[in-house]
Amino acid sequence: MLNYPGFQSATVTQRTDWTSELFSLRVSGADLSFKAGQFTKLALPNAEGKLVSRAYSVVNAPLSTSDMLEFLIIANPQGQLSPQLQALNVGQSLYVGTRANGDLLGEVIPKRANDLWLLSSGTGIGPFLSLLDDIHLRPRCEKIILVHAVRHRADLVYQYLIQQLIQLYDGRLQYVPIVSREPTEYLSGRIPQLIASGALSQHTGVDLSADESFVMLCGNPQMIKDTLPVLKELGLEKYRVKTGGHIVYERYW
Ligand SMILES: Cc1cc2nc3c(=O)[nH]c(=O)nc-3n(C[C@H](O)[C@H](O)[C@H](O)COP(=O)(O)OP(=O)(O)OC[C@H]3O[C@@H](n4cnc5c(N)ncnc54)[C@H](O)[C@@H]3O)c2cc1C
Ligand SMILES: NC(=O)c1ccc[n+]([C@@H]2O[C@H](COP(=O)([O-])OP(=O)(O)OC[C@H]3O[C@@H](n4cnc5c(N)ncnc54)[C@H](OP(=O)(O)O)[C@@H]3O)[C@@H](O)[C@H]2O)c1
Repeated sequence: MLNYPGFQSATVTQRTDWTSELFSLRVSGADLSFKAGQFTKLALPNAEGKLVSRAYSVVNAPLSTSDMLEFLIIANPQGQLSPQLQALNVGQSLYVGTRANGDLLGEVIPKRANDLWLLSSGTGIGPFLSLLDDIHLRPRCEKIILVHAVRHRADLVYQYLIQQLIQLYDGRLQYVPIVSREPTEYLSGRIPQLIASGALSQHTGVDLSADESFVMLCGNPQMIKDTLPVLKELGLEKYRVKTGGHIVYERYW
């Protein structure tokens, strides 16, 4: 493979196809220093030889014993890179960034936060799985609510890992799937409306409040845009390093 500044080559070691669009790639061979919850870039050269790169969150927590990185990706058929990533097979190469970034970090969760809300849509659950799985940073909050909003039941990925985490957190972690486009036994609707109506609090038995809550959001930018005013109405403010606050988020597009 050619050398591109800011990138290193890695090899696909495993792929999981959750649905016809949604897949996970496990790669090895990249030397990436990252914190749980961060993203890096994945890249492939296009037909003209130009490198096309996009941001993807690491799903696993940093491991001291392995260079394994896992990514959860939805292929956008019109997209430049995600269909090319979906076409990769085990043993094939791709480029991985040499740096990681992102604000969804365990260290921003204030000690006062009793309740940690992790609100995700689609592939936005990835950084929260990384955070929850980080044994060094395991959030101390009394109650942790992992909300995953998806269109279809089949989009509820990583069930085995989530069940392991629920055991590990010994009663402190609640998993709340929301399925919006087919009837299921789970909550239906959208995150902002479910917060505004009180349905999410009623379902979890936990209130969202400025005194007790810290909220992380990740995924669809419109979901984040629509949820922020609802949280502000409850008295929660955007987190800033200097002033503190209650809300951090990462938009995926
Ligand atoms: C910080 C960050 C982290 C990200 N992490 C992930 C991740 O873990 N998994 C993941 O699947 N994606 C993630 N994304 C989105 C990813 O970077 C790409 O934008 C996405 O894969 C589409 O790239 P593409 O080249 O296939 O499409 P493009 O050629 O860039 O075109 C895609 C079109 O769809 C829109 N779009 C971009 N991403 C999405 C999306 N996910 N769903 C719907 N529409 C979209 C864009 O506005 C654009 O119009 C992340 C983005 C950011 C900024
Ligand atoms: N998931 C699929 O089956 C599928 C198939 C083909 C292509 N894609 C493409 O992949 C991209 C990502 O799809 P995705 O299913 O991972 O994520 P998504 O479209 O963001 O949907 C995930 C969840 O977020 C909800 N949502 C969407 N907009 C919202 C808003 N403004 N406020 C609150 N919640 C909102 C959706 O509810 P609603 O259902 O009410 O919108 C759904 O429950 C899409 O652009 C889509 O074009 C997805």
